Amino acid sequence: MNNNRSTFATKLGMIAAAVGSAVGLGNIWRFPYEVGQSGGAAFIIIYLICVAVLGIPLITSEFLLGRRGRANVGGTFKKLAPKTKWGVIGYMSVLASFLILGFYSVIAGWTLEYVYQAFCNGFAGQSSAELGESFKSFSTDTYRPILWLALFLAANFVIIQSGVKNGIEKASNIMMPFLFAVLLIFCIRGLFLPGAEEGLKFLFKPDFSKIDSSVILRAMGQAFFSLSLGMGCLVTYGSYFSDKTRLAKTSVTVVALDTLVAILSGVMIFPAVFSFGISPSAGPDLVFITLPNVFLQMAGGYFWSILFFILLAVAALTSTISMFEVVTAFIHEEYNVSRKKATAWIISLCFVLAVICSLSIGPWSDFTIFGKTIFDLFDYVSANILLPLGGLLVSIFVGYRLDKNIIKEELSNNGEFKVNYLNLFVFILKYVAPVAIIIIFLSGLGLLG
Ligand code: TRP
Repeated sequence: MNNNRSTFATKLGMIAAAVGSAVGLGNIWRFPYEVGQSGGAAFIIIYLICVAVLGIPLITSEFLLGRRGRANVGGTFKKLAPKTKWGVIGYMSVLASFLILGFYSVIAGWTLEYVYQAFCNGFAGQSSAELGESFKSFSTDTYRPILWLALFLAANFVIIQSGVKNGIEKASNIMMPFLFAVLLIFCIRGLFLPGAEEGLKFLFKPDFSKIDSSVILRAMGQAFFSLSLGMGCLVTYGSYFSDKTRLAKTSVTVVALDTLVAILSGVMIFPAVFSFGISPSAGPDLVFITLPNVFLQMAGGYFWSILFFILLAVAALTSTISMFEVVTAFIHEEYNVSRKKATAWIISLCFVLAVICSLSIGPWSDFTIFGKTIFDLFDYVSANILLPLGGLLVSIFVGYRLDKNIIKEELSNNGEFKVNYLNLFVFILKYVAPVAIIIIFLSGLGLLG
């Protein structure tokens, strides 16, 4: 059954797909507002520690599991630990995928509305306050966000249906280079805005009094979210890696580029936030209100605003396809459903969840659970609970359960080159990662007193 399983065709395509999964709304939309709400530079430092210490070994572990298992996330654990309960990770991953896709696709839909607005020159002549108002009236509307949502999911359908090589890899190869080029231009522009220093100070000058256990939990949650960790996404992509792919090197590349994009997004946004007198803790709306402001001040802003929102949509798309692929591969392989059929069902189900999330921002915003709207609840539960839990299970599985020879074989591509970090790798997975995740997790939820 595995002989005709796909792999990525080229090394560059593999990197584009993996980085495409990692780089997304998490970097450009979520990172800046988490930074804004959690006090700036101090949050970023904790974030960087999480990314380096937990991110690199965990991404490597997911890649390793996937390539060894050569199957979807559920199948991989079943293969590597037959007749045990580890296969449960498959179901957890599916649940997390749906929760994330539910709120994520809504935001992705918003980016399409903004592409449209940019085309129609809809931002022209609006003050900051008016831009805020227009965003609010759009995002709380009943039908309009759902329309864009449907369009966005349709794009996912087309790509996922076309398979790994012709869908995911091709799409990533086209979309990722653009993203990087344009982001860089916006950063440079942001730095020249009057009052940019305020924003840079906020980003790079830490105030450690802002740090408490809930900030640390959020930083870890953001790290997992941004790196696509903890729900089998990278296991699934790893299962399409060629035998020649160097796993650790690929992880470092993914982490480096993902972190770069997050920081660049901060540099792009915060100078503008301070320059235009918007509160940095604006929350999820931040990008949609500040950036149109920036464009209005830019030479050629009309053109740039179109390009920017297209790219935001593109960043979202390369990430959602990676989440859809987790579920598609799972249903397709574990339940013998054709890829086409699986895709259609999954995307329809996601549509329903996303509609609920979208309505929870508008007409249903009074309905809350634990003080959160459904949208916020999906975001919080997935990033701060399910992903750390998934990461914990992966570290325990690779650290304790998996044969060390398997780890060595995978990291060295069957002895093709030397791996001098093997012991450090296993040590982190055995002791550092599980302990750190458990402590951060419990204290962040307020369970350690
Ligand atoms: N990492 C992506 C982003 O930053 C989102 C994402 C894709 C994701 N796949 C994931 C998040 C898996 C958590 C788990 O936008």
